[in-house]
Amino acid sequence: MARSLLITRISELVTNALRDSDAIAAISPDNSAAAGGPGGFATLSNAALVIEGDRVAWTGPASRAPAADAVVDAGGRTVLPGFVDSHAHLVFAGERGAEFAARMAGSPYAAGGIRSTVAATRAAPDGVLRGGLRRLAAEMLGQGTTTFECKSGYGLTVRDEARSVALAAEVTPEVTYLGAHVVPAEMSAADYVSLVCGEMLDACAQHSRWVDVFCERGAFSADEARAVLSAGISRGLRPRVHANQLGYGPGVSVAVEMGAASADHCTFVSDADVDALASSGTVATLLPGAEFGTRQPYPDARRLLSAGVTVALATDCNPGSSYTSSMPFCIALAVRDMRMTTSEAVWSATAGGAAALRRSDVGWLGPGARADLIVLDAPSHAYLAYRPGVPLIQAVYQSGRRASLALE
Ligand code: NIG
Ligand code: FE
Repeated sequence: MARSLLITRISELVTNALRDSDAIAAISPDNSAAAGGPGGFATLSNAALVIEGDRVAWTGPASRAPAADAVVDAGGRTVLPGFVDSHAHLVFAGERGAEFAARMAGSPYAAGGIRSTVAATRAAPDGVLRGGLRRLAAEMLGQGTTTFECKSGYGLTVRDEARSVALAAEVTPEVTYLGAHVVPAEMSAADYVSLVCGEMLDACAQHSRWVDVFCERGAFSADEARAVLSAGISRGLRPRVHANQLGYGPGVSVAVEMGAASADHCTFVSDADVDALASSGTVATLLPGAEFGTRQPYPDARRLLSAGVTVALATDCNPGSSYTSSMPFCIALAVRDMRMTTSEAVWSATAGGAAALRRSDVGWLGPGARADLIVLDAPSHAYLAYRPGVPLIQAVYQSGRRASLALE
């Protein structure tokens, strides 16, 4: 029997659970015996939680908590599921601070900036890329992110995309092949799409779970996006799309048509796009760090939510448009500037991200869920937006173990 840990005196426990049970549930690895499951935003007050091994075994009122091998006193703090950051570009070299400064002084953002990171990434040894990736992964964990997705897309050669996905697979199972990020300067679009769908895919598929394409003016057209996604799907990868970030266009409709798990950005969407998202299983992943970093208008979260679209929040961490690894920062932006409620934003950053990655084991806390959680030094989840920029993450548990949050 795995050792059990009781975390008690929790002022607010964010469960996002379909149904809370205060009985210890039998736990099976595939969740089938779980008493609950991922659901809408839900909380318990004056609560406790029991971890057994890498799973949550029990949640309920602190007054009815069962005995456990060890006890942690949360001292009136909030406990919530670890953040699920479903969109990040972490394999790169170099930085673009000067480009950011110029943008803040009035220059526009263009997809072409990606090429300067491509040049630095191609020139970097594996050790440099690995070091940067690990530093960002540690930064994320320290800010409460326990599951994250990581894309390739700054290599754009067979060798550099293959090593990007292989490095990403060292730090996360949620690896996305984004060979179709932009067309590299040295190739025609047609030749590059053939490479992305052929030899490059052959080299990347084994390390990847997802295939993504930047479907946007200046990047890839609807037909090119379809070709890239179809090729990936034929190799067992699942589709997701960078859609409608810089202007109106076909990205969202291609994402829905191809059965993508997620259409990411959704900054410029038509009524037809909103309807298509609402009547599909495609999650709209909003990335307010990108609008912050490019001074674009924020996506209209209220319009998507009112239409019944499932909304996720993620960082889009990358050196160009959004060099933040902080889900709390994105929650604060979503609440203050996109008018999401604090509960909607926290749900979207946890259960929403899990939906965007088609994961049912994370993003919620109830019997059977993975024991990935944050102890927040605050009486409620609202403090994530109410106290923006303040380091409130007191402890993080990943698969039931307390994580070391020190940056090396
Ligand atoms: O999601 N949109 C495409 N890719 C990134 C930007 C990457 C970059 O500027 O380097 C994004 O915003
Ligand atoms: Fe992105």
